[in-house]
Amino acid sequence: MAQKMIIDTDTASDDAVALVLALTDARVDVLAITVVSGNVPLDMGVQNALYTLEQCGSSVPVHLGADRPLIREHVFAHNVHGADGMGDIGLPLTGRTPADGHAVDRIIELARQHPGEITLVTLGPLTNIALALRKAPDIAGLFHRVVMMAGTGDHTGNVTPTAEFNIYVDPDAADIVFTSGMPLEMVGWDVSRNDATITPADSARLAATGPLGEFCTSIQRQLVEFCRDVTHIDGFDLPDPVTVAVAIDPTIGTRSIDAYVRVETTGTQTLGMTVVDHLGVTRQPANTKVVLAADRERFVEMLLTACAG
Ligand code: RIB
Ligand code: CA
Repeated sequence: MAQKMIIDTDTASDDAVALVLALTDARVDVLAITVVSGNVPLDMGVQNALYTLEQCGSSVPVHLGADRPLIREHVFAHNVHGADGMGDIGLPLTGRTPADGHAVDRIIELARQHPGEITLVTLGPLTNIALALRKAPDIAGLFHRVVMMAGTGDHTGNVTPTAEFNIYVDPDAADIVFTSGMPLEMVGWDVSRNDATITPADSARLAATGPLGEFCTSIQRQLVEFCRDVTHIDGFDLPDPVTVAVAIDPTIGTRSIDAYVRVETTGTQTLGMTVVDHLGVTRQPANTKVVLAADRERFVEMLLTACAG
């Protein structure tokens, strides 16, 4: 039986590859894609998701969610993914029609329809998930797993020295999720930086698989520049796809700890930090499985298989 999945995304160039991974894998039944404002404004994220589904020949419904963080002013990531979020390579990213129904309501409906069965995967800020928990607290116990591209297990940030983008954009929403009691698995940006990097040679192999591989690599144009200039990665890293890979096959995560994690929501230097209690000094019960490493070779093979169709 394929595993039921909901994917919440702020669809930019790495999210798109994550969607391709999930939509082309026979082990997965994507019930809905819900979009949140993050990398790019909400409507752009919706159009990018719809375009990506079209490349996969998928009709999975795409629902609009939150168009801003719960409290803070928005921070986008056009510097990382381009003005259109998809590498600014001239793709026709407008004019597609999303599904009716708000993302938050759809998350609640599906959780209640399929209690204990759904893997919720989050690839952007956690605004939609926090809103769903506030509207329907009962859903905290209704998911099989909640696998999040969120934070960093080693406290190395990509927006500030300690904060990862998805958490930094909406730290208030993130702390609601981390204190919800949901079955959380955190795949931090440290895993991406260390074990989900795509070298130029890997990228050439992916592109050579065909149209889907060409799509997945060509939209990383802006990300390649960001990785060269800011994160000093040769090629590009894929935080959202490695998160989906772990959601599909937990053994892709090769090392993890169960830890107590909270989010800094008021700090000046550390706002948006996922504070992971590695040593248990808080004596608080663990609330998250923190993935700390992944199998890069098997991850790249999953990408090649997905793109080869
Ligand atoms: O920090 C990386 C995360 O922020 C990824 O999900 C990327 O798509 C951006 O949303
Ligand atoms: Ca994302």
